[in-house]
Amino acid sequence: MPRSTDVLFTPFAIGKLALKNRIVMAPMTRSFSPGHAPGADVAAYYRRRAEASVGLILSEGVSPNATTATGTPNVPNIVTPQAKEGWKKVAAGVREGGGRMGLQIWHEGPYRNPAKSEHPDIPSWSASGFKLSGKPLWPPMTGAEIETAIEEFVAAAVATKEAGFDCVEIHGAHSYLIDSFFWEETNQRTDEWGGDWKGRTRMACEIIRRTRAKVGPDFPLLIRISQWKQQDFAAVAAPTPQALEAWLTPLVEAGIDAIHCSQRRFWEPAFEGSDLNVAGWAKKLTGKPTISVGSVGLSGEFTAAYSGEASEPASLDRLVGMMERGDFDLIAVGRALLQDPDWAEKIRAGRTDELQTFSRDALAVLY
Ligand SMILES: Cc1cc2nc3c(=O)[nH]c(=O)nc-3n(C[C@H](O)[C@H](O)[C@H](O)COP(=O)(O)O)c2cc1C
Repeated sequence: MPRSTDVLFTPFAIGKLALKNRIVMAPMTRSFSPGHAPGADVAAYYRRRAEASVGLILSEGVSPNATTATGTPNVPNIVTPQAKEGWKKVAAGVREGGGRMGLQIWHEGPYRNPAKSEHPDIPSWSASGFKLSGKPLWPPMTGAEIETAIEEFVAAAVATKEAGFDCVEIHGAHSYLIDSFFWEETNQRTDEWGGDWKGRTRMACEIIRRTRAKVGPDFPLLIRISQWKQQDFAAVAAPTPQALEAWLTPLVEAGIDAIHCSQRRFWEPAFEGSDLNVAGWAKKLTGKPTISVGSVGLSGEFTAAYSGEASEPASLDRLVGMMERGDFDLIAVGRALLQDPDWAEKIRAGRTDELQTFSRDALAVLY
């Protein structure tokens, strides 16, 4: 007999944001926003998940400026009037559908390819100017550029609240701009923005502090972090629990409300000697609500469709066990929900025979 999934459908609150259950739609770039503004198809896509038992929706990555933040076509931003209008409609639709939603603010940093961007003359931004340690591709960010980036993140978070969303997530994972400051391999600065964890988290902390001052105490601020890096899946930015604590404590002191720990497989332990995953450790070390993620609802066969490698089947039983134990509070689901808007409702209602297999072809459609 499979275990009951009831624990996934118990309420939870991040501060004053009440969620009807523990299932989060993971942020997923879809590139369906021509002119960088989400349209009616994008609004309907998110609303379908709200209507089908997803407790919290996190948007695809949204750019905080129209220049350095992205080189990816059809990625939405939150700076133009059209984009702001589009997002207002998304927020209203999700609300009407009974859901809760936040935008994920995403600055591609060193992963923006200027040559493929709309502004090939503007260099990409990152802590020390490179993707991998070694040869710089661009100059390190100047103090004035760091200040601009911080203010753009803050403005994007304020615009998120103004558009009617319930929370905002700062994308601090996967080697993008903020993560280029976090990871010592890509942050070799010797000024106040580099050095130890305090210096390397300073940029994120400034964003959190200044955002908090503008959005007030009740608008939840989430941050997504990852041990792994896009250029190195095996990277471990914080090799010990002490290092993870040194990473997260400044973020908590700055005022973050929840920590979203990106893993590629939720069941993998973070450190030797304990079966807690990264979100488990983040919760234990900070006491803050945490979100885990990684191959939920996927079998090895279709995990390969995204990341190009096979993995062992990730059973829901295992997830339920970790959540019943209280390891972490919320679980984000990516590809299973990209493919099937009704995934959460099917799990809730025990309609497991109706679950679909994830296929790469789903990326071409806004189901
Ligand atoms: C098509 C696609 C786009 C993604 N875009 C983003 C993104 O914009 N921001 C982000 O933090 N993660 C992004 N991710 C990673 C997902 O949020 C998630 O962590 C990953 O897919 C693992 O979860 P899953 O195994 O449930 O799919 C993306 C993943 C996919 C498949």
